[in-house]
Amino acid sequence: MSETVDAHPVAVVTGAASGMGRECVESLRALEGVLVAVDLEAPSIEGTVGVACDVSDPAAVDALAARVRDLGPFRALVHAAGISPTMADARRVFEVDLLGTQLVLDAFEELVVPGSAAVCFSSSAAYQIAPFVDAEQDALIDDPTAVDFLARAESAVADSGLAYSLAKRGVIRAVARAAVRWGRRGGRVNSVAPGLIDTPMGRREMERQPIMQEMLAQTPLGREGEPREVADVVAYLVSDAASFVSGVDVLVDGAMIQGMSSAGTD
Ligand SMILES: NC(=O)c1ccc[n+]([C@@H]2O[C@H](COP(=O)([O-])OP(=O)(O)OC[C@H]3O[C@@H](n4cnc5c(N)ncnc54)[C@H](O)[C@@H]3O)[C@@H](O)[C@H]2O)c1
Repeated sequence: MSETVDAHPVAVVTGAASGMGRECVESLRALEGVLVAVDLEAPSIEGTVGVACDVSDPAAVDALAARVRDLGPFRALVHAAGISPTMADARRVFEVDLLGTQLVLDAFEELVVPGSAAVCFSSSAAYQIAPFVDAEQDALIDDPTAVDFLARAESAVADSGLAYSLAKRGVIRAVARAAVRWGRRGGRVNSVAPGLIDTPMGRREMERQPIMQEMLAQTPLGREGEPREVADVVAYLVSDAASFVSGVDVLVDGAMIQGMSSAGTD
């Protein structure tokens, strides 16, 4: 089926099976169109079209975009699929978190019509490394679809934690670039940078990385965030209420980054 005059707008959530992506599926019901839930295995969520797609696989991402094109005009994309430092080695972290985001942004660009809006997931981790990143690292992360990107990234960065932080910095920069191209077609792209959020991924990192407890202690609001608190920001960013907001990253971290940078000074 190709696009028809009475076609319903299509909203897509990747990483829809768990955590913040799952919560965003609920938020996007407000858009009242076709809702596509994407994960490694097709999610079975009432009222959604479930699609299996590994976002790091270019052919699978192209097939996802083609499916969306067939379903109707592209209204919203929430790209929450991602992995954390304890889940994989540095190469796979770059592949899923950075290359995957670039592939998704590139594949959906052709679908953008006036009113289309996307939100990608970066991380507060990008802010933690910001003062230490050099120009060579930025040049690397700014070209994730280069044929030798993963080989170069793997040899430059062995630690999966640093890979995660750099990949998420790359997401913020990819979103800024995409906002220029999408904007010319009337579309918007932003990202959210969650702090410590109580999801399966968040709990896993909290259990395995002792530094997470210190980060929690330095979070001024004194607690982790709930997935809903991030999904609410995402819902705003894709909504028409944010119709002039594009190319920005929104920290949703209970002021953790501010708390960490002022630690020991007050
Ligand atoms: N939880 C946190 O504290 C936190 C903090 C900062 C950023 N983030 C980011 O927020 C996003 C959502 O995280 P979450 O905590 O909800 O995680 P989660 O693990 O609960 O959910 C992530 C989902 O992404 C899916 N996924 C993983 N790799 C995929 C791939 N290659 N293709 C398609 N789907 C894939 C998983 O199957 C899972 O359903 C991620 O990008 C994560 O890096 C999370």
